[in-house]
Amino acid sequence: MLDYVGCIVRPAGHPFSVAVQNVFVPSNQNRVSLLVASQYVANDLRVIRFIGPNAAFRADPGDLLFANKTISMALGSQLALSLAEAWGQDYLGRVKSKETKTLEGLPTPALVLDLDVLESNLRLMQGRADALGVRLRPHVKTHKCLEIGDLQRSAGASGITVSTPEEARAFAAHGVTDILWAFPMIPSRLREILDLSDRVRFGVTVDSLVAVETLSRTEAPLSVWIELDCGYGRSGVPHESPALIEIGRRISETSTLELAGCLTHAGHTYHAESPAHIVALAEEERRAMVEAGQRLREAGVDPGTLSVGSTPGMSLVQDLTGIDEVRPGNYALYDYTQVCLGSCGLERCAVTVLATVISSHPGRGRCVADCGAAVLSKDLGAETPAHFGRLFSDLTTADLDPAARVTSVSQEHGTISTEYSIGTKIRILPNHACLTVAQFDHFDVVRGQTVVDRWKIWRSRGAGNQEGARRDGPG
Ligand SMILES: Cc1ncc(COP(=O)(O)O)c(C=O)c1O
Repeated sequence: MLDYVGCIVRPAGHPFSVAVQNVFVPSNQNRVSLLVASQYVANDLRVIRFIGPNAAFRADPGDLLFANKTISMALGSQLALSLAEAWGQDYLGRVKSKETKTLEGLPTPALVLDLDVLESNLRLMQGRADALGVRLRPHVKTHKCLEIGDLQRSAGASGITVSTPEEARAFAAHGVTDILWAFPMIPSRLREILDLSDRVRFGVTVDSLVAVETLSRTEAPLSVWIELDCGYGRSGVPHESPALIEIGRRISETSTLELAGCLTHAGHTYHAESPAHIVALAEEERRAMVEAGQRLREAGVDPGTLSVGSTPGMSLVQDLTGIDEVRPGNYALYDYTQVCLGSCGLERCAVTVLATVISSHPGRGRCVADCGAAVLSKDLGAETPAHFGRLFSDLTTADLDPAARVTSVSQEHGTISTEYSIGTKIRILPNHACLTVAQFDHFDVVRGQTVVDRWKIWRSRGAGNQEGARRDGPG
C-alpha cells in the first residue's frame, strides 16, 4: 500500500472543465493532515491544494500527483527545484480521464502527435547513429517538449541541442545536464549564458574573434563551440578559412574558455534535388568537418567534439568516419517537406493538424478551415505549385487526398482547395513540423484514434530578463 500525503499540481492553462474523477489517498495515521493550502503559483505549475491522510479528494484528468517529500520541500522556498525533482521518485502520475477521447472530440485547431510513429522515429534514428558509430545529440527546437526529450534520452541520446536559452532553461530544470546552444552567441544574453553554465554543462557557439573576446571578458569558465560553414552559407566560419585557426588558438590561449567542440549544419540539404544529392552533401559536410579538425590539431589546438547534422543528411548518410556526434532534430516528427525530399516516407510523419471547416459556399470549389498561418506557419514547403499543407483523405487513414491542399493562409483562416461542408473535420500534414509545433502550447498525443495524453510545448520567448528567466522553466 502506498503511504503518502499528496498534493495536486496542475499545469497552468489546463482546462478546468473536464469531468471529475475521484482519487483516494491511502491512510497514514502518523501524519498530520495538511488540508487545503490556498493556491500556490510558481513557474508554470500551480499547486491547487494539499491534502492529508484518510482524505478522499477530487482531481481532474490531466492533474499531476506528487507525494509528501515534494510537499514538504514545496512548502519551503525551493518549490521550483522540488517540482523538478518530483518528476522522478515523488511524481506519482497524471490523473487520466475515464472518458476515452477520440480525435473527433478534440477542440480544433489541435496539434496531434502520433505516439507510435514518434517512438519508431526515435528508435530508427538512434539505431542509425549507433550503427554509424556516433553519439546522437537531438535538436529539441523541433518539439520543445520535455516528454519527447525523455523518450529521446531513454532511446540512447546523449545531451541535447537547443536554439534558445529559453529551451535550455526548460530542459535544464527538467534534469538535462549537457546542453549545446547551437546558435551564434547573442551578447545581450550573457547573463543567461553565465547562469546556465553554472547549472549544467552548457555549450556556447561562436563564429568570430569578436564573440570569443566577449566571452573571455566575462572571466567565467565557459564551454565554447566553433561553428563552421560547410557550404550552407548561413552562419559559421568558412571551414577552409584561416579564421578557423585564429579563433581556435584564441580560445585555447584564454585561461577561462574551453574549446569543447566544432559544429556545422548542412542546411543546404533542404535544397537538394534528390536523395543521392543529400547523401553527397552529407559526405561533403563530414569531410569538411574532419579536415577542419585535422587543421586545428596541426595548429596545436584540440578541436574537441566534431558535430554535424541535419535531418535529411542524417536520414540518408552512409558514412560518418571521423565524426563524434550528430544533431538532427526534425527526425522526431518528420513532415511533408522531408517526404518530398526523400528523407522519409509518409508513414513516418508524426504530427498533423486537426482542423474544422468553418465556411463553405456551394459551388465555389473550396472552403475555409481554422488552419491559418498562426497554426501551420507560412512555410511554403518543397512542392510546386507551392501550398501550406496537404490533407489526408479522412481522419483515420494515412493516405493523402490527391487533390486537397491548403492553398492560402491569413492569420487564422486557411483556404482549402476542395469543397467540404461546414463542420467537416480535416487532418492536415504540415510542410514544416518545427514551425507548426512552435505555434501551439501543447501536443494532443494519440495512439491510433485515441487521445492518450497532452504534452506541453515550452515555447516561451523574450524571457531574457531575470524575471522571465525565473519563470520559464518547469522547475
Ligand atoms: C545548428 C543546427 N544544428 C542542427 C539542426 C537540426 O537540423 P534539422 O532541422 O534538419 O533536423 C539545425 C536546424 O536548423 C541547426 O540550425
